[in-house]
Order: sequence, then structure tokens, then C-alpha cells
Amino acid sequence: MRLINKFYSRHIDFLMKEYETALKGVEVAGVLLHSGSLDTYFGDDRVIDFNAYSHYLRWIPINKPDQFVLYIPGEKPKYFQVIPNDYWHEQKIECGDWIYGNVNVVQIKTVDEIKSYLKNDDLAYIGPNPTLAVKFNISTSQINCQEILNYLNFKRAYKTEYEVLQIKEANKLAIVGHQAARECFLNDGNEYEIHMAYLKACSILESDSPYTNIVALGEKSAILHYQNKRNENAQKEKNLLIDAGCRINGYASDITRTSVKMSIDSLYRDLLVGMEYVEQELVNLVKPGVGYPDLHSDALIKIGKLLLDHSICFGSLEGLLNNEIPHLFMPHGVGHLLGVQVHDLGGHLKDINGTIEVPPAHSPFLRNTRVMSENMVFTVEPGCYFIPSLLEAQRNTKKGKLINWGKIEQLYPYGGIRIEDNILVTKDGPENLTRQFEAINS
Ligand code: GLY
Ligand code: MN
Ligand code: MN
Repeated sequence: MRLINKFYSRHIDFLMKEYETALKGVEVAGVLLHSGSLDTYFGDDRVIDFNAYSHYLRWIPINKPDQFVLYIPGEKPKYFQVIPNDYWHEQKIECGDWIYGNVNVVQIKTVDEIKSYLKNDDLAYIGPNPTLAVKFNISTSQINCQEILNYLNFKRAYKTEYEVLQIKEANKLAIVGHQAARECFLNDGNEYEIHMAYLKACSILESDSPYTNIVALGEKSAILHYQNKRNENAQKEKNLLIDAGCRINGYASDITRTSVKMSIDSLYRDLLVGMEYVEQELVNLVKPGVGYPDLHSDALIKIGKLLLDHSICFGSLEGLLNNEIPHLFMPHGVGHLLGVQVHDLGGHLKDINGTIEVPPAHSPFLRNTRVMSENMVFTVEPGCYFIPSLLEAQRNTKKGKLINWGKIEQLYPYGGIRIEDNILVTKDGPENLTRQFEAINS
């Protein structure tokens, strides 16, 4: 039996148990999961790119609207595969044969037909279209019931072997793209060309990506989610920050690499070497029981040291930390949970009851406050940026006295650095789901 068959089969068994527990205490007989409905832009008949709802995708890796899973504990899950009569669009559904056999596939032509299959009145609905759920006579209290969602969102941080396999495959493919992107950059490619080189090497469309590729040359690397792709001569550009992933069966990779040409300013190059080191050190701190906010604090400490080592800041490490100086250089969290969503759900959940563990006040953008535990997958992505709007606001303040403005001006044209890997927590420590493929391919 192929690995994927075995893993998917076990994954479905796992989900069945997980959902059975999630539904306990809630007065329902089962749950209907919905991939979502197509929508159009306001005042237009143009359809918005569809991305299936993540809780549905964990069951069925088919990114299509109006697909449903009905799960009633004790019964085999039913997958309602809605294939409408439509001569405008391709409606054929292609998926691995390993799906069949693990769920009962019911092929129908319209969403309305589902109603005749919903014999139980007391179902819960999880999905993006509450109006549809009402049409199915699902009680409003059971539509996206928070009690169920809290349980599912908390639990899905722990991946099954099927999920880890998908994230690994998504890393393997993205690494091919990253290598092509780097090659293109070293040959003076511009942002647009690097972006296209990435997609081509991965053989994907932009709409297949788990998020908008960030392809930033020079100073644009300081824009954390830089979205443009400049199509202009880039010969003079010396550094590239590319943050790009892939999706396999719904699961994402999320990888950032920073590359330089030989003629790059030596200060930036040394900082990049330091950041590569910092990133690997942080990855090596991953193990069950460590609080993710502690990893974030470690990142700030290490970045503070780096800023002092390169005379970008003055004073003591303690002074920098007390004044929240490293925070100005890394104004994002050191990572987030990863899965069927690139920023996966449940990062702030403390337990299955929905208790929220807020990020520390000094780092409000930290997306993960969980305690590391076996089978969790998250990113580790320290960054060090020279963001004019954040730094200039401090130029004439007490904090500004700790900053070496000459060095900042020297570094502004290069924007920043980020290095990002995807990490699985095992009982023995980290498994780097990204670097294992880089080693093979390079
Ligand atoms: N690609 C977005 C992020 O790294 O979180
Ligand atoms: Mn990320
Ligand atoms: Mn990223």
C-alpha cells in the first residue's frame, strides 16, 4: 500500500475521533463541513479566486466550492461532491484515488440535493455560508458553534503523519522554486522575473500559492508583506528577500531566503551571516515544553547581540532590551503555526475551551503563544529590518541615542533580512522540514 493511502486512512480515523470528542457536550448528532461558496466582486460578475475553508480541507484536499463532508459519529464520513451542469467552466474533479474508500463519495449536481441526505435535524454546520446552513434547517446556535471550533482549532496544531507528509512535500517543491529564484536574482533578474522563475520551477500558477509571494530587492525588503513585483532593470540590486511557499493537498509551506551578490556591502553580508546563525540557533531550541513566546524572546536577545556586535546599536544588551530596541528591528513575531492555512488557526489558544493566551505587550504581532508539543508544526523566521517609518520616529528620542544612525543610513538601501524554515516538533527536538530538501537539492 502506498504511504499516502495508509497515512490518509489513519488521518481520517484520527479526524473521526477528534470530531467525535469535539461534538461531545454539544447537543448535535453530527456535523456538516462546507468548503464555501463562490463569490463575486461587488457590483461585478467576476468571480473572486476560491480558497476552500481550512477545516473542510483537512478532510478532503479538493479546493472547490460547495463540497461538503457529513460526519456522524459511528458512521463513515460522507463526502458530497457537487458537480454542477456548467458549460462555462471545467467542473471535473481530479483527486488522488486514495481519497476513495476512506469516505463515502456521493456525487450530486446541486447543493439543494444535499438536504434530502440530512435526516438528522440536529446537525452542526462549520463553514463560511451560514445562510446556506439555515436553508438546511440547521439551528443558528449550531452554525460555527464556538465550542466546537475552539476544540478543533486548538487540536489542529498537532499534525498527523499525513499532514506532516503534505507539509514536507510542500517544502520539497518550494525549495526547487527558491533555488530557481536565487539563480534568476544572481543573473540580474528583476522582481517580476524572479517571481515568474519561482512559479515556473514549481510548475504552479500564482493562484496555487498559499500566500502572495514576497519578492523584494533592495530597500523593498523592509516592507514585511511587500506585494509588488517591479519589472524594471535590476542589475544594480545586490540583495533579494524572497518569501514564497507551495501548497500540496491544501497544506502550505512558508519559506524565506535572503541572498546577496558578491558586491554587496560587507556590513549587510556580515549581518546576513549572523542572521543565518541566529535562525539555526533558534531552530535548535525547539523541543516539547518550550513556550513559543520564549523562543520569540530568545530571537530578540540574539538580534540585540547582533546589533551590538556590528555596532548598529550602542550600549548594553540589557539596555537595548529594556528600551525595546531589537523590537524595532524585528517588528513581527518569530513565527506562527503552519498547516492548511499559512498562519494556521489556534496560535493564541491555551486550551480546548478557547482560553486566549495573549502575546506579550512588547510583541503584539506574535501569532503563536502556544507551548511546543510533539507533532506541532510552525515556522521559525527571525528578521532584522531597517524600516524608515519605525526607526526615524526614534531618531530624536532617548531610544534614538542607542542607535548608530550612520550604520542605519548605510543599511537602508538593503531593506532587511529574513530567514524562515518550517519546523516539526518531535520528542527529540526539531525536525527541519525545509532544510532537509535544501541539502538534497543543492
Ligand atoms: N509568508 C508570510 C509569513 O511568513 O508569515
Ligand atoms: Mn511565516
Ligand atoms: Mn513567510
